[in-house]
Amino acid sequence: MNIRQVLDQRISTALISAGATEGTPAVIKQSNKAEFGHYQANGVMGVAKKLKMNPRQLATKVLEALDLSDIADKVEIAGPGFLNIHLKPDWLSQQLELALSADKLNIEQVENPQTVVIDYSGPNLAKEMHVGHLRSTIIGDVIVRVLRFIGHKVIPQNHVGDWGTQFGMLLAHMNSLQASDNELSMQLSDLEGFYREAKKRFDAEPDFAETARNYVVKLQAGDSACLVLWQQFIDISLQHCEDVYKRLNVLLTRDDVMPESGYNDDLSRVVIDLKNANLLTEDQGAQCVFLDEFKGKDDKILPAIVQKSNGGYLYATTDLAALRYRHHKLQANRILYFVDARQSLHLNQVFSIAKKANFVPLAIKLEHMAFGTMMGKNGKPFATRDGGTVKLIDLLKEAEQRALDMVNEKNPDLDEAERKTVAHTVGIGAVKYADLSKNRSSDYIFNWDTMLSFEGNTAPYLQYAYARIQSIFRKAGEFDSNAALDLIEVAEKQLAVKLLQLPETIELVAKDGTPNTLCNYLFELAGNFMTFYESCPILKAEKEVKNSRLKLAKLTAETLETGLDLLGIKVLKRM
Ligand code: ARG
Repeated sequence: MNIRQVLDQRISTALISAGATEGTPAVIKQSNKAEFGHYQANGVMGVAKKLKMNPRQLATKVLEALDLSDIADKVEIAGPGFLNIHLKPDWLSQQLELALSADKLNIEQVENPQTVVIDYSGPNLAKEMHVGHLRSTIIGDVIVRVLRFIGHKVIPQNHVGDWGTQFGMLLAHMNSLQASDNELSMQLSDLEGFYREAKKRFDAEPDFAETARNYVVKLQAGDSACLVLWQQFIDISLQHCEDVYKRLNVLLTRDDVMPESGYNDDLSRVVIDLKNANLLTEDQGAQCVFLDEFKGKDDKILPAIVQKSNGGYLYATTDLAALRYRHHKLQANRILYFVDARQSLHLNQVFSIAKKANFVPLAIKLEHMAFGTMMGKNGKPFATRDGGTVKLIDLLKEAEQRALDMVNEKNPDLDEAERKTVAHTVGIGAVKYADLSKNRSSDYIFNWDTMLSFEGNTAPYLQYAYARIQSIFRKAGEFDSNAALDLIEVAEKQLAVKLLQLPETIELVAKDGTPNTLCNYLFELAGNFMTFYESCPILKAEKEVKNSRLKLAKLTAETLETGLDLLGIKVLKRM
């Protein structure tokens, strides 16, 4: 159990002894000022109100029933009935020793591992990945790492769009070029340009448009020549995605791709099963599901369309099929969708229909982990100067270039290869961290200057804190890891408590899918370390104190590295 859980359990029990009903929350919070202790329990006031008791009196009764003597050396009542908990330095250093010696910083594996499907990235393969795919890709990746880290079985699913009318036009264009394989892959190296070219012809040349429409029909009917051409296109497009994932240090591989086309064979069955479940209504020739819970502004029900009047299937149909697959085949207990907030109606309709149609059990957890839009400085969705979409790969290259300019200026002595590594690590880290550190559900403004700054809540700041600790160790040489860890100064104790708060931070990230919680934690940790470093000399201290402080520094570095790794961000020994 992490500290928050221990306190929660013990104080809840004491609350019950003092008259509260079972399940009353103890409301444990980390305190933000040393004088209020390390943790606060704020649950007393709520209980007092219910019991119509004086809260301070109730707090006294709770204290009588509470034994924290093994972990705390002081518990006081403050204000209207807060409990301030001061943890015992001896206990803290024991816990730090455990974190230093055990695997994974002694963070426990979950008792009941779940099978969690994580749906993320999911670009449309007709075009190149653009900045709109950044958030899903990197936030989803963090949650994959975090859930795996604590012992869940995680199955990533990259629900790429590889089917639909756009492909007719692309295949028609490919075919008319009559190019060799080699030339073709050259042509497709600029997928975006290829798409634009095909679209231009589609709009301007009636014959071409006709061919394109024929290709769609042939493709969907399983025509083998068409499929070969299509597969060729998909392979190249996926290769583009993989280049981006690699550059971004995102774990997705080809094995995680479960494309829309993979559900083709089930789509007609989905519609039949919906019909048998009495969920279908025909509306202007289309097959729709009307559910009362989804109403528009005018109070009219917003239907989910599962089959068009011409027989074609839609996005919702595929997502319903995907849900069945994830339940039956992948045996998921929990499915998380890292998808733009603007698709929330779509996903909620799909979740609701799937449960009503018995495609998945009611107990399965389906969560839309929605995120806001990345904005430009002008407050509009991030775009090129003329309003076009920005390719993700170009954005990442620019990040690395900007970081390289910085390194060249700050650290011209490093050799060129090392400067490039630093630039890559810092540039990509900065872009990712700037996004991950924001509240997932809000929009945010993309700003090169703040994200690349060495001050504030940024990747370079954290990477620098890590590198700085490494340089302390280079200067310190060997140190005795058996030396005692003594927490004397306030800054040492504050740092110690912060170090021990990684597990409860991870617990929150795993539950809510919020990487920014972890970012804030790491930022606070680095801040606590800097305060410690300024007020508690390490290398100049006498031997015992020095060893003890080096141990704190070591655990800080390991915690920063682990935390950043969970964010998919790399550290550097020097920068
Ligand atoms: N391809 C979709 C898009 O670009 C995202 C897919 C999200 N996942 C899902 N199961 N619908 O908007």
